[in-house]
Amino acid sequence: MERCVAFLKEADVYYLATVDGDQPRVRPFGTANVFEGKLYIQTGKVKDVSKQIHNNPKVEICAFKDGQWLRIAGELAEDERREARQAMLDAYPSLQNMYSADDGNTEVFYFKNATATFSSFTAAPEVVTF
Ligand SMILES: Cc1cc2nc3c(=O)[nH]c(=O)nc-3n(C[C@H](O)[C@H](O)[C@H](O)COP(=O)(O)O)c2cc1C
Repeated sequence: MERCVAFLKEADVYYLATVDGDQPRVRPFGTANVFEGKLYIQTGKVKDVSKQIHNNPKVEICAFKDGQWLRIAGELAEDERREARQAMLDAYPSLQNMYSADDGNTEVFYFKNATATFSSFTAAPEVVTF
């Protein structure tokens, strides 16, 4: 899992796919933080992406870096604890211009039942679960 987070941070941007009824939705994301041994991402409750995750927590993310791509498929669970939100904001000080732990908008989710696959054109896929 630490390897996944390092890859996401080095790639800088990943793409988060959600399910909206029968329509896939995808958008760029950047937040990825380890808290209490789990991979967390951050968003805002006002966003469509948040509503989609609450309706259907199954998501997939994809990032590409140096000829290798990482896909993580799994479910996102909201962590409603203030300390979980604050840990994310501490890891991304730039977010503090737009978000705070008590604004009623900021939310963080952690991955569960995740299958991460590292792929490239030159090597067999490597699969990690967490
Ligand atoms: C490089 C980059 C990184 C981003 N990272 C995040 C992020 O970590 N969390 C977030 O909520 N929005 C992030 N955004 C903004 C979302 O992509 C944007 O709000 C998007 O419209 C949300 O999806 P939605 O319109 O389906 O709700 C990022 C945008 C860019 C360009």
